[in-house]
Amino acid sequence: MNNQSARPHSSAHATPLAAAAAAVAPDATTRDFAQSLHRCLAEQPHQISPKFFYDAAGSALFDQICDLPEYYPTRTEITLLERHAPAMAAQIGAGAELIEFGAGSLTKVRLLLQALLARNLAPARFLPVDISAEHLQAQCLRLRGELPDLQVEPLIVDFTQPLPLPARGNERRVGYFPGSSIGNFTPDEALAFLTRSAGLLRGGGLLIGIDLVKDPALLHAAYNDAQGVTAAFNLNLLHRARRELGCDIEPANFWHHALFNPTRGRIEMHLVSKQRQHIHLEGQRYELAAGETIHTENSYKYTVDGFQALARRAGFVPGTCWLDERRWFCVMWLDAPS
Ligand code: AVJ
Repeated sequence: MNNQSARPHSSAHATPLAAAAAAVAPDATTRDFAQSLHRCLAEQPHQISPKFFYDAAGSALFDQICDLPEYYPTRTEITLLERHAPAMAAQIGAGAELIEFGAGSLTKVRLLLQALLARNLAPARFLPVDISAEHLQAQCLRLRGELPDLQVEPLIVDFTQPLPLPARGNERRVGYFPGSSIGNFTPDEALAFLTRSAGLLRGGGLLIGIDLVKDPALLHAAYNDAQGVTAAFNLNLLHRARRELGCDIEPANFWHHALFNPTRGRIEMHLVSKQRQHIHLEGQRYELAAGETIHTENSYKYTVDGFQALARRAGFVPGTCWLDERRWFCVMWLDAPS
């Protein structure tokens, strides 16, 4: 994420979900949020990891973003899956341990799982990893209903931390990282994540979705939708701070601001303070000046060559790359040599 390097890491926190267990948000997430918000408000420039967008309300807003006319990535990636799922399934192979990073609503992986099952390439198990406990649990219940023979083992963890995976069997491990969520990492953080993944997936591979560099006007529209859903998603971070941490930060005192930074090749999202204001969090008092921003997200855009070069440096061997005809998005196979 944009500011991970600056934070002392809390230990990765795993909560395997029983099928019928009540959704319990892991405390580590709330503590992590409180600590990160303290640091964000105390330090300049003010920045916080986008992983905190995804409480239950934020996950629901993100699902709405995916349906927006301006938000092309989800639609484009799903079209690629519909077209090429058989080839992707063949690449994944039979009996794999399939690990999805940032599983969210499971819409995309469902297409892959169906393609695998239809070709007798059933995975040994499916491990969806996500930080949003309630959302993941609800989606897994649904998936189990649809695919009763599939072994689903959700992990509620922060995948920006090393994964506490169950001991590995003999099966080949395949990672799935759709949505261009890797764009939330800086290139250095992406390299670190990919290097760790190449080790984790040794002998298997990674199927990853990458949003590509394109006309800034299209990028701008995708993060400034007419209905204001992206603004609500950004501002939900502040609503969450009120709900979860009892912070008195006032969402109405901020504007949503998203812009493409061409030098860095990334969309930046900020919350702009409309006026000088004070914020109280757990007994601490902070001040924001008029026009000061809280930097909430980076979303890096890559070229195919640029991303493949990064993957090579991480120890992967790039394979097939599936692109739409406008070259807006690609899904790429990366071999992880043993
Ligand atoms: C989930 C990180 C891929 O960067 O496009 C969408 C998140 N933020 N609209 C993205 C997001 C604002 C999204 N990712």
